[in-house]
Amino acid sequence: MKPLRKAIFPVAGLGTRFLPATKAMPKEMLPVVDRPLIQYVVDEARQAGIEHFIFVTGRNKNIIEDHFDRQFELELTLNERGRREELSTLSRDLPGPGTTSFTRQQSPLGLGHAVWCARELVGNEPFALLLPDVLVQHPRGCLAQMIDAARELDGASNIIAVEEAPKDRVSSYGVVGVGASKGKAFAITQMVEKPKPADAPSNLIITGRYILQPEIFGLLAKQERGAGGEIQLTDAMLALQRTQSFYGLKFEGRTFDCGSKVGFLAANVAYALARDDIAPAFRAEIKKLLGEP
Ligand code: G1P
Repeated sequence: MKPLRKAIFPVAGLGTRFLPATKAMPKEMLPVVDRPLIQYVVDEARQAGIEHFIFVTGRNKNIIEDHFDRQFELELTLNERGRREELSTLSRDLPGPGTTSFTRQQSPLGLGHAVWCARELVGNEPFALLLPDVLVQHPRGCLAQMIDAARELDGASNIIAVEEAPKDRVSSYGVVGVGASKGKAFAITQMVEKPKPADAPSNLIITGRYILQPEIFGLLAKQERGAGGEIQLTDAMLALQRTQSFYGLKFEGRTFDCGSKVGFLAANVAYALARDDIAPAFRAEIKKLLGEP
């Protein structure tokens, strides 16, 4: 496989499930402990070796661009006050100069359309796609595991992260059909977006991490509508699977669907409990809340 250098982050969604919190603030900027959701996902991509970060944004999303820039006045003040730790956190979190690109999805036509909006910035090379709604808690992240698995597979292959879900939840996701195993991955035989539980080909849902070949853009360009009247990435992937190999990977790590309130709150608890500086005091608070001695 050609080296994977670029990643797309679709961040144009309206975040209606978190209103009124997301009336003036993008949902991707909601904090999990003390870092915005989008920072975790960008970090996962950097950790996997991604060099160029492409954000597909929309109106009201300008602060995402500001977040991935220097904040000169803030740095100056922190410097004057000798706040070394905060300064080093800010500089650690910042992608290098010239490694971010922003383009706009002008109309909310679906995930497939958002990905297609990044076609000129990606060009003719494979790319990663990370949905910021999904956090994967694992020391190496999910994308690095997918790259490892992709190395063991044939050249021009596509690979997507999947996980098991209870049957009554599959209709909120894309669902794959399972074929022969190959190394740590398995061949995907079918993909259906938001199926009724009875029509789901398995209980394996698409988790929000993808490595895709650039031929997907030609298929997305047809702009055919699928589930919910939206241009669905899953439908274009199914079409691509007729000419290219497609694999699924059951990765290691715990996922949080931060597109839902409960998933987002659970992520806050889990990430706080994983922080040495916060966990002891936080654990004590939780015990009090739960009425435990
Ligand atoms: C999107 C994809 C779906 C995938 C999900 C993961 O759906 O279309 O296949 O399972 O993300 O979070 P959305 O959450 O945008 O409805």
